[in-house]
Amino acid sequence: MKKSINLSVPNLDVEPILCNLRECIESGWVSTGGRFISEFEGKVAKYTKSERAVGVQSGTAGVHLALNVLGITSENEVLVPTLTFIAAVNPVTYLGATPVFIGCDDTLCIDPNLLEKFLEEECILKNGITYNKKTLKKISALILVHVFGNMSDMERIMEIASRFNLKVIEDATEALGTYYTEGKYAGKYAGTIGDIGIYSFNANKIITTGGGGMILSKNHDLLDKIRSLSTQAKKDELYFLHDEIGYNYRMLNLQAAIGTTQIDTLENFIETKTKNYKRYKEAISEIDGLEMLDFNIKTRPNYWFYSIVVDEKVYGINKDQLLRALNNHGIQTRPIWGLIHEQKPYEKNQVYSPEKAIWYHDRVLNIPCSSNLGDDDIQTVINLLKSLKKK
Ligand SMILES: Cc1ncc(COP(=O)(O)O)c(C=O)c1O
Repeated sequence: MKKSINLSVPNLDVEPILCNLRECIESGWVSTGGRFISEFEGKVAKYTKSERAVGVQSGTAGVHLALNVLGITSENEVLVPTLTFIAAVNPVTYLGATPVFIGCDDTLCIDPNLLEKFLEEECILKNGITYNKKTLKKISALILVHVFGNMSDMERIMEIASRFNLKVIEDATEALGTYYTEGKYAGKYAGTIGDIGIYSFNANKIITTGGGGMILSKNHDLLDKIRSLSTQAKKDELYFLHDEIGYNYRMLNLQAAIGTTQIDTLENFIETKTKNYKRYKEAISEIDGLEMLDFNIKTRPNYWFYSIVVDEKVYGINKDQLLRALNNHGIQTRPIWGLIHEQKPYEKNQVYSPEKAIWYHDRVLNIPCSSNLGDDDIQTVINLLKSLKKK
């Protein structure tokens, strides 16, 4: 039988995980209390050189809570990328606010030039508040997505955000482990530069807890509020008194029991993913019509996803034909998500310069990148990429 090679699967160290899960089950600490939650939070904070982190149910819950504590309501518009997974955008709508879509640069992350141009030409700043000229609504926050483990141009973006008085939420769900090696933010990890950062531990992420997320911020008051909102805003544990509308978003001890072992192996995963990326890149550079996308050269990326750009004119088939051909050989690949400004719930929203996002959307394919990919798996993918080219 033909072996299938998946895109991005969990890499779980069975014995330590079983040991931790056994402790949860035998002690009965399977829900939102228990020692693994604070242990995992502490390890993520230490790894990212942050003071604190708060564990939640998912990255989506993290984005929702971040927007909530930054005061986003139906009176606001929030700037978001169009090239992203929709989970980065939907929480804006949960709060009744309106997303405004901005295009990307060659890192696939939001383009600081477009962001600046939009704010300078399409908005006005009055008494410290930025208004959209078209709708007259307040724009008070920006969500960045560090796409595929890459990192947005934080130096430019933070400067622009400060000029227009925008709060910055870093959706670093795909970029745990990526950090700047040069410039003003050298040594700073994705998710730790803006006002609030979010990680996801969904099954396809670089480390996983099945489902789960973590929120970081330098602002302890915001983190306290996030923690409270994640547990139904319970102000009194015994009498169940609540002073706000909260959510059931707290991380489970069961999830953290997995996470606390996964974070210990993250640097090994990144090492393997770096090696595999370089091997693919070298081989793919010899195939006319295919090019592997680089990561931001000012960073040490986590190399989460490997993206190739298919030039149909040279390669002979387009990215969709290549996707189907690879899938027929048992190789799971994935295009970039459908751009969000084109999705049904957002068709009527304002969008600014999505041309480059559309260009990449039409040409990019992600190829298998799991940290437990075998050498022979990589060779199989490379051989197929060579043989599927139309002469
Ligand atoms: C860019 C982005 N944002 C948000 C999320 C949501 O994370 P979760 O699946 O943990 O809710 C994901 C991943 O799933 C993502 O890739």
